[in-house]
Amino acid sequence: MKINTQKLPANLPTQIVSHIQHLERMRQDFVANVSHELRTPLTVIHGYLETLLDEKDLPETRKKVFLQMHQQTLRMENLIEDLLLLSRLEDDVDNETKTDEPVAVADLLNQICNEARELSGDAKHDIQLHADKTVLLKGCQEELRSLFSNLIFNAVKYTAPNGEIIINWQMKNKKAYFSVQDSGIGIAEKHIPRLTERFYRVDPARSRSSGGTGLGLAIAKHVLLRHDGELNIQSKLGKGSTFTCIFPNNRLLIN
Ligand SMILES: Nc1ncnc2c1ncn2[C@@H]1O[C@H](COP(=O)(O)OP(=O)(O)OP(=O)(O)O)[C@@H](O)[C@H]1O
Ligand SMILES: [Mg+2]
Repeated sequence: MKINTQKLPANLPTQIVSHIQHLERMRQDFVANVSHELRTPLTVIHGYLETLLDEKDLPETRKKVFLQMHQQTLRMENLIEDLLLLSRLEDDVDNETKTDEPVAVADLLNQICNEARELSGDAKHDIQLHADKTVLLKGCQEELRSLFSNLIFNAVKYTAPNGEIIINWQMKNKKAYFSVQDSGIGIAEKHIPRLTERFYRVDPARSRSSGGTGLGLAIAKHVLLRHDGELNIQSKLGKGSTFTCIFPNNRLLIN
């Protein structure tokens, strides 16, 4: 668990505060270094497995084994990329976003929805997008892409085939609202406060089989923090969920 060094009790002696900050820094560096060091060997293994899979006359039993190894290297690569992204975001969690470009959210959502339809594939979810093109958000496009795609892809992953997913981007009372509503499996109330913790999954076996690492919502929370946003989660077990991100007026540009 990350320690927020800004929220330590005010009466702690400064020596203790700087020691805690030092330990927290070491923890962050350790995770970032391990992830970085694992990247190269994994890329090599991944590459060799692809060569092996391309071999002609490969016996079926071997092919099955290599395919599984290949899928697992992909999972590890995703995990490492997510850990590296999270470390980068944590690194300056108390700072504002580095880039403050006007992001055309409606266009970005259009692209992500097309990717979500591909991800859905034969499950044929009904993915609807209602986005106000005139509302732009000041921030970092790539970070916002991670935030929105994590929430939209979750809706696809945790909704049965043919289910409905409704995505909205709108202004109301001088704030902007991004929401993803699904008709999926839903989440029991006791899990909701813990969902944005790293590696927290309601049903680890199910998430693992769908390739999830449990880092998506932790990344989403950090991106939101860096864009002065808040996350609201409403869900009913067996009925579906709505994840809403709320952005303040000072982050918006109206075209
Ligand atoms: N729309 C949803 N409907 C139901 N459960 C959800 C939904 N979104 C998230 N969850 C639950 O919250 C958990 C955490 O989500 P999170 O996105 O952090 O991880 P993940 O989807 O398992 O993996 P990944 O790192 O690939 O995103 C999920 O494992 C799932 O149990
Ligand atoms: Mg996810």
